[in-house]
Amino acid sequence: MDPRLIVALDTADRRQALSLVEKLLPVVDTFKVGLQLFTAQGPAMVKEIAAAGAVVFLDLKFHDIPNTVAGAIYSAGRLPKVKFMTLHTAGGRRMMHAAATACHTTEEGEPSPDHPALLGVTVLTSMADADLHEVGVPAAPADQVKNLAALARAAGLDGLVCSPLEVASLRRALGPEAILVTPGIRPAGAGTDDQRRVATPSAALAAGASHLVVGRPITAAPSPLDAARRILAEIS
Ligand code: C5P
Repeated sequence: MDPRLIVALDTADRRQALSLVEKLLPVVDTFKVGLQLFTAQGPAMVKEIAAAGAVVFLDLKFHDIPNTVAGAIYSAGRLPKVKFMTLHTAGGRRMMHAAATACHTTEEGEPSPDHPALLGVTVLTSMADADLHEVGVPAAPADQVKNLAALARAAGLDGLVCSPLEVASLRRALGPEAILVTPGIRPAGAGTDDQRRVATPSAALAAGASHLVVGRPITAAPSPLDAARRILAEIS
């Protein structure tokens, strides 16, 4: 079992999600529940995945005012077996700080011993220069990622979600302890689907990723278990 590999359950279907968890549990222990699955199946889905014996990356990418995001993070962090949660760093320093406090402390204000890791999403990998300019951000995506990463660290977040192409510079800036999770992973020779900025599993780890999120290269493979085993062999 290699905790660096996280499989994205991008489906709205409860049975399909649980069947993937069951098939992959011999070799994968962390599964990402994103907006599609959570919106369709709710917190009960997280509880079922936890009951099956797996760990959850709850990728809900919160973006709202500080009080609302802190409340949502607090509730999400109380679901069983949640190891990672996400918010948008563009929500600003006060929002991230309120969320980090809600994540890291108990209701009584004591440090929470095994809280989930709170990760910040910087610039969505679907956004290029022109998309950022259109929403009023004059910086290039790489510079904006660095700005937001520095703000996230100052606000107390535990790590970031970033593309494999940014991970080397973030690793240099944030040091060896930061959790840096990269999606956009494609084994050599695999199709890229709708992803544009991709790397192989071993290249992303070599560049500084601590964890890899892999969806379709595993979930859409004829045998998800074999596909996961091939990726694990590549990174072992
Ligand atoms: O199927 P694929 O491997 O492309 O899935 C990647 C997963 O990572 C999806 O769940 C997607 O939502 C997520 N993700 C991403 N890019 C980001 C953040 C999250 O692809 N910047």
